[in-house]
Amino acid sequence: MTTELIIDTDPGIDDCLGLLLALASPELHVHAIVTVYGNTTLEYATRNASEIVRRAGASVPVVAGSPAPLERPLVTAVETHGESGLGYASVPAPKPVGPDPEALLKVVASLEDPITLVTLGPLTNLAVAIEADPTLMRMRIRRHLAMAGNLAARGNTTPHGEFNCWCDPEATDRVLRAHLGTQWVGLDVTRQLLLTAEEVERLDQTERDRWLRDALRFYVEFHRDFEGFDGCVINDPLLIAQLLTPGTLSFKEVGVRVHLGEGDDRGRIVAEDDGTPTAFATGVRPEHAVELLRSRVFGH
Ligand code: BDR
Ligand code: CA
Repeated sequence: MTTELIIDTDPGIDDCLGLLLALASPELHVHAIVTVYGNTTLEYATRNASEIVRRAGASVPVVAGSPAPLERPLVTAVETHGESGLGYASVPAPKPVGPDPEALLKVVASLEDPITLVTLGPLTNLAVAIEADPTLMRMRIRRHLAMAGNLAARGNTTPHGEFNCWCDPEATDRVLRAHLGTQWVGLDVTRQLLLTAEEVERLDQTERDRWLRDALRFYVEFHRDFEGFDGCVINDPLLIAQLLTPGTLSFKEVGVRVHLGEGDDRGRIVAEDDGTPTAFATGVRPEHAVELLRSRVFGH
């Protein structure tokens, strides 16, 4: 059976791998890609998503969403993903976009059947949609997987904070409390999905491989400098792999809350007995995701 899917994303080098995997997978029907600020600006994220769709040879609508967090100033991850959001990969000049924080809401409302939603960036678009029409969102979203947060793993933005939650703690809080049945896929598991620098250098079979290599080289340089590791952590495709190979991830029920302050605790997810009950990913078989990337994305 085909999974009817919407992807909300801030591409982003690892988002790019997630999108290419989804677009290469006949088991998934991607209805739309909704963009959000995050790794880069909304304008660049939207340009990048369109370029990824083009390089996938797909025709999926790309819709621009939120340009900034609900309440906080915009900060992007230039040091991690480069000025363009896609490292050293060549990309066309961006076209001006009309930001629409309600873009995700509108896409969900336009579809008749329940869908699976995968969010790979800050949760702002979803938070806006929940605020505007919680009943519709609960009715139409059959399943939601979010790349967000961390329980035991160290943060990647502060010592404790994960980037997507750090960007918009208020949106994270709203999604947590919305009881959508969200499956939280955070750094506890995504830190185990790695490509080595050697694997990146071997991406040479096709023109798109070489384009990806240019993007990933930047990511490797960042990880060498900031994580002391000769390779890169490629978080986002793990969620797509879980849709394709259930059992890639295992979840535990845990009560959590998100820190809404500033400083090192900003956006930090903490387990608490009286926190909001969630399903948090704690077990992972990263080889399933690597295998899918090798067979469906690399060399194509
Ligand atoms: C998340 O933040 C971004 O850097 C990545 O694209 C991923 O979605 C990891 O914390
Ligand atoms: Ca992302």
